[in-house]
Amino acid sequence: MRDVTLLDIFEHHITQKYVKRSGFAHAIAVAYHAFHLAKEHNEDVDMAAKAGFLHDIGHFTWYRNGKWDYDLYRQNDIHAIKGAERAHKLLIRLGENPVRAKATALAILFHTDSFLPTNDITRTTLQQIVKWADERDEEEGGAHHYRTIKKERARESIIRLDRMIDEELGLEQNKQLS
Ligand SMILES: [Fe+2]
Repeated sequence: MRDVTLLDIFEHHITQKYVKRSGFAHAIAVAYHAFHLAKEHNEDVDMAAKAGFLHDIGHFTWYRNGKWDYDLYRQNDIHAIKGAERAHKLLIRLGENPVRAKATALAILFHTDSFLPTNDITRTTLQQIVKWADERDEEEGGAHHYRTIKKERARESIIRLDRMIDEELGLEQNKQLS
């Protein structure tokens, strides 16, 4: 058994509030991409999927006169910093192992360079995977944040990905044996 599943994260009110803001459809797509990329690169599929799912949990809405202001966002956005912190707190509260919670939070922190003065940081494979996963689902003008998904469908996709992670980690078999 993993300490924390994607479903535990999905059902938490903090996730419902903040991941919803940047879009569950995008978060779930990135979680799936991160899972597949981690599998390809022999990385930790559980942390990759969690970081992918939570990567935009730090988003703030930059509105001016009722409209999203992209310039305001570009100048002031720190969603990766905020997201890393928020995701870390959430994972710890849910009972995640602290070493894994930190690695997951750092993968969220470095999924973009947008808040850094230069773009020359060297990422670990896990951190790079979350960046690639996000880029795979990006649409022009931030349209990926506006795609919608029904809550029940989102929940089913999360449960399916949880199963894929358990299978990949060999947890399904263990459960059947015990
Ligand atoms: Fe994203």
